[in-house]
Formats: sequence, structure tokens, C-alpha cells
Amino acid sequence: MTTPTLASTRAELASLLADSRAGGRPVGLVPTMGALHEGHASLIRAARERVARDGERGPVVVSIFVNPLQFGAGEDLDRYPRTLAADLEVCAREGVDIVFAPSVEEVYPGGAPQVVVEPGPVADLLEGRTRPGHFRGVLTVVAKLFGLVRPDVAVFGQKDYQQLVLVRRMVLDLNMGVEVVGAPTVREADGLALSSRNRYLDAEQRDAATALSRLLRVAQHAAEYGPASALAAARAELRAAQGVDLDYLVVTDPDLGELPPHVPPGTEARILVAARVGTTRLIDNLPLVIGRVAATEEES
Ligand code: PAF
Repeated sequence: MTTPTLASTRAELASLLADSRAGGRPVGLVPTMGALHEGHASLIRAARERVARDGERGPVVVSIFVNPLQFGAGEDLDRYPRTLAADLEVCAREGVDIVFAPSVEEVYPGGAPQVVVEPGPVADLLEGRTRPGHFRGVLTVVAKLFGLVRPDVAVFGQKDYQQLVLVRRMVLDLNMGVEVVGAPTVREADGLALSSRNRYLDAEQRDAATALSRLLRVAQHAAEYGPASALAAARAELRAAQGVDLDYLVVTDPDLGELPPHVPPGTEARILVAARVGTTRLIDNLPLVIGRVAATEEES
């Protein structure tokens, strides 16, 4: 177990990365807001695999920054867990080289930014409906982190699927030249997707929350009979659940666009759900293959 080097300023980060850059070694980045769990550990492992080249390995950087720009009024910015000491232990265990944990002033030296990333129409769907401005904040900070770390590869979780789609689109539209990897969602044995927000759930809510992954799995099987059947099966499973207040449940194409009316067998799709359990908003999603039962989850 090696202790990662902690950088809290842009200058420290730049000097730590200088050698790797000079040696042409690839740099991997896992952007996080901390409160690291096994899901983040799997992102770090995916990054480590991607920076290994010809027996040599480039550095993996984990950024830990609770980005105020992506929280709306009344959201959980203040109560968002901040657990740096425990996060550093996870990073040490996973062989992270550099942890970049800057202050708000370090990331936004000019105060609230005047120039931001406009995320486009996909940001207004799904999460964007209840969290206006959220993805502008996410893409702006991700663009900043890409500018500071200049990674060759960046790993994001498929759990935040809309975020992953939007980051990919930003990289494409702004020619950022970063390989974006989508790592599969890590789940508890009962299917609950790991999330830093799960810690807000009491035992009863924790139990109720398993309905989300259950309905997605049921839909994966029913997709054999088409997207409408997948959605109907998921809705039936939801009706049987207690204490789950649905926000959305949709089947889309893999880029979150609408599926055409007639979908040929073999077409890939995505099912996404968001619901409130108690006061905690949870999201989850899975891939579907129309006309077949999809393999559960794979790196993308
Ligand atoms: O997924 C997250 O933890 C955040 O949205 C991210 C990508 C680190 C940006 O703040």
C-alpha cells in the first residue's frame, strides 16, 4: 500500500504531474466528490488498467471536490459527506498516485465563473428537469479538471448515466481529446447501486430502495418482448413497492434520445429510473437489448 501524494493547489498538482508528462506516460483521472466507496474503487481500478502501457504505468489522479456549481438551492451541498481521511485510505488501498483535493477558491479563483460549459438539450431531460443548472455545473468543473490534470483517460461511473453521456458529448463537441470510460455500476448483494447518498437511508428506506434495481432487472428480461413490455414490467414491479416516490422511469436509446416507434431486435437501449425514498433522491439505470435479455452491465 503506497500513500498517495495529496495536492491541494493547482501548482502542486502541476509539479507532481510534470515528470509523467515529460516521460510521455499516460495520465488517468477519476473525478469524484469524495465519500469514496467500493463504486469509486472500481473506477480507480479501471483507470489503473488504462494507464498501464508496455510494462510502464502512468499516474492515476483522483480529484475530490464537492462542486458547489452543480448543487441547486435546497439541494444537499451542506450535508454532502466530506470524509477526506477515509477517502485517502481508499486511495492508498487502490494504489492512487495523486489525490487532488482543492478548495473552492482554488477551483474558482475568479469567484463564480462567467464562462461556463453549456451542456445542450440532453441536460434538460431526466435529472435536468428537477435539477436545473446541474449539468452546467458538472460539465464546467469536469472541463476545469481536464484542463488542470490534462488526462489521457478519465473514468466515470455508469450509475450517473446522463452525466456520462454529457461528458462524452462535451469531449466530442469541444475536441478535448480525452478517452472517457464508463465503468459498470457496483451493487450490494441485493442489487442496490452503491451511492454516497445511501448513507442517508434508514433501515426501512434502505430496504425500500432495492425496488429500483429490481425493476430494472425485470425490465432487462422483459425487453425480450420489446421496449413497451420492458417499461410495463418495470411499472408493475414499482406498483408492488412501498415507500418509493417515482420521479421518472424511461426507456431511451443509449444516448438518451427517443427510441423510434419500431425497434428492430438487437437494438441497444437504456432504462433509467429516479425516485425519492424518504428525503433521499436515488437514481439507477441498466442497458437493455431489445429482443434479448441484455448482459447485466459492461464497461463502455
Ligand atoms: O459524479 C460526480 O461525483 C460529480 O458529478 C463529478 C463528476 C465529480 C463532478 O463534480
